[in-house]
Amino acid sequence: MTAHGALHVVASALHALTAIVWVGGMFFAYMIARPSLGAFDPPGPAKFWRRALARFFAWVWAAVVVLPVSGFIHAVYGHGGFGAAGLHVHMMAGIGAVMIALFVYLYFVPFKAFTRAVDAETWDAARAPLATIRHLVAVNLVLGLVTSAIGASGRYWG
Ligand code: HEM
Repeated sequence: MTAHGALHVVASALHALTAIVWVGGMFFAYMIARPSLGAFDPPGPAKFWRRALARFFAWVWAAVVVLPVSGFIHAVYGHGGFGAAGLHVHMMAGIGAVMIALFVYLYFVPFKAFTRAVDAETWDAARAPLATIRHLVAVNLVLGLVTSAIGASGRYWG
């Protein structure tokens, strides 16, 4: 295998793995942890999200760097360049850019406000930013599932 071939293999594997970590993490947070935490008294859930989201978002930062870089390498070596790639690759990059922008906003605005409120134990002030995080994660979860379906199936229709 050539060096370019090896780079393509590594990039496509990292692309799929980082998509799984990001989208799977959002699925677990929204569909599993959020409804399950309803059984716990406040401020338990807020304390949980403070710790869990800080850990999860470190992985998401890695994903928002690795996904576009590996995606473009994938496009160069698998499709003869981004311009020559099919519609599915352009859709993936476009939706991916929206997902990344939403995450960066979520991290620096509502998540920072939520973190400050929990650290100061001002539980009322933690409620609104956590609701915003919940809405943005719901949007990104749907976009991430759609993008993953497009990425995995697009070679048959794109
Ligand atoms: C940000 C810019 C992105 C670019 C340039 C890009 C590019 C690509 C390319 C070229 C492929 C191979 C498609 C094929 O050979 O038919 C691919 C596959 C895939 N992409 Fe993306 N992608 C991007 C973002 C994303 C995002 C945000 C997700 C999910 C959250 C995602 C999930 C996938 C999945 C699941 C596959 C199928 C597995 C694989 O081939 O690695 N991609 N992507």
